[in-house]
Amino acid sequence: MESIIFELEKLSYGYIDGGKKRMILNELSFQFEKGKFYTILGPSGSGKTTLLALASALDVPEKGKVLYQGKDIKSIGYTKFRRNHMAIIFQKYNLTDYLTGVENVETNMMIMDHKRGKGQRETAYKILSSVGIVQSKADRLITKLSGGEQQRVAIARALAKDVDLILGDEPTGALDTATAKEIIELFKQLAHDYDKTIILVTHSDEVAGSSDITLKLFDGKLVEERGE
Ligand SMILES: Nc1ncnc2c1ncn2[C@@H]1O[C@H](COP(=O)(O)OP(=O)(O)OP(=O)(O)O)[C@@H](O)[C@H]1O
Ligand SMILES: [Mg+2]
Repeated sequence: MESIIFELEKLSYGYIDGGKKRMILNELSFQFEKGKFYTILGPSGSGKTTLLALASALDVPEKGKVLYQGKDIKSIGYTKFRRNHMAIIFQKYNLTDYLTGVENVETNMMIMDHKRGKGQRETAYKILSSVGIVQSKADRLITKLSGGEQQRVAIARALAKDVDLILGDEPTGALDTATAKEIIELFKQLAHDYDKTIILVTHSDEVAGSSDITLKLFDGKLVEERGE
């Protein structure tokens, strides 16, 4: 199908635990469509972060493959895939401490050649303000922002990259309910108005409730939840 942009094909992955191999993902397959907002639920330890690591080419599966626009990311090149086609927001913020918020956002804009040049700072401030970071905060060093504010900068940083695929591991986990709601609305808008594919791991039923499709990681496989 044409609208499939990202595909996990029979992924298997395990860890050695106490000298024994324990499989976490077991021939997991799923096809993600362009312009949809997905959430992934699952108990702690079920393998959600492991799955995102494979989906974002931070690690490689033992078996199976990850396809972007129908191409194996191995043949695209892992680094190229990470740099040009996706953005990821982690449980931990992964920001550069010695830079300000706006500089952190700009580093991701500079990766994409077309965003280079004048107007860059203005755009960075705009993106930050869309996630609730005003200019006076955007100009502060990361270490001088609260945890929730840092998380918003991390989200802005991902948005600045302007790619089709955004992955997130509990990106609203450190935010209060009201802010989390705003951010989730923003993700929804990005999916529906800008045709981005958003895949977020979450523990929150509320976040899952506002996504287009809720998936559950269970027994090493992704299954779609339908209705109530
Ligand atoms: N490097 C590792 N070596 C051995 N076992 C690991 C390693 N990393 C993760 N695991 C185990 O694999 C399982 C899945 O871990 P993972 O971090 O993917 O879970 P998760 O679904 O993201 O959990 P949470 O919701 O708590 O973040 C857990 O039981 C974890 O202890
Ligand atoms: Mg996790």
